[in-house]
Amino acid sequence: MKKNFYGSLCSLFYDLDKPAAPKNEVDFYLSFAKQNYKILEPMCGSGRVLLNFAKLNFDIEGFDISAEMLSRCKQALLKTGNNNKLMQASFKTYNSLHKFDYVFIASSSICLLTKDDELLQALKLIYELLKKGGIFVFGIETLQDMLKIKKEPQIRQACKDKSMVKLTIDKPIFKEVNVVSYLSRYKLFENGKLIETQEEDFFIKYHNPHEFDILLSELGFKILHKYSDYNLAVFKGHEDMCLYVLTK
Ligand SMILES: C[S@@+](CC[C@H](N)C(=O)[O-])C[C@H]1O[C@@H](n2cnc3c(N)ncnc32)[C@H](O)[C@@H]1O
Repeated sequence: MKKNFYGSLCSLFYDLDKPAAPKNEVDFYLSFAKQNYKILEPMCGSGRVLLNFAKLNFDIEGFDISAEMLSRCKQALLKTGNNNKLMQASFKTYNSLHKFDYVFIASSSICLLTKDDELLQALKLIYELLKKGGIFVFGIETLQDMLKIKKEPQIRQACKDKSMVKLTIDKPIFKEVNVVSYLSRYKLFENGKLIETQEEDFFIKYHNPHEFDILLSELGFKILHKYSDYNLAVFKGHEDMCLYVLTK
């Protein structure tokens, strides 16, 4: 079973389901950018957020492990007339000859790094890639959010023209500490006829924000702000999401 793979049906579903990032989310990430900045979005996916930067002619690069998500991002970028650099890479394989003023990871994607060594490697790489005084912004799903997980299976669908993708997510399975697996089945129908089925297992790690603060400080990051939403509500410790704004 493929884990956190983002294959073709998952990518198609993602784009049909989330065609555009909400304005307050985009504005939040844009608010840290300046036109002369070199910007990097690791785990950029199909460009839901990155495309907004490209349209405003920011110097932004992205990388993602999924060829399918990146290819969607590339196609959408070309439509905007921009040709920003995209790389298929993980935190293990990504490299850059230059450093960045601003790095961000959108939609708590960092929680897909469920192994401690993977997460550590990612944070260390970002620290290395960040210029002194640069800004790193990302979010985590907290243990508070884990408590609210729906225990029942879920069915969702997304349509475009004569295509429909049906997603069935099994009852979540609680794995190792604070890691939850969501076994997902994607079925593509065209004109009502089943064309393809793909399965993926999504593993998400929920974090204790207090422990995360300690980890970030140990790595050398300085915490500038912690928000609980994109409208800059201050994170008080018990909300579902913690958005970190860090510097080096
Ligand atoms: C939920 S999607 C979000 C994409 C984008 N951040 C957004 O907000 O639309 C998570 C993305 O993380 C990518 N990803 C997962 N593990 C990764 C890894 N180890 N290195 C790089 N990308 C990874 C997936 O391929 C996928 O495109």
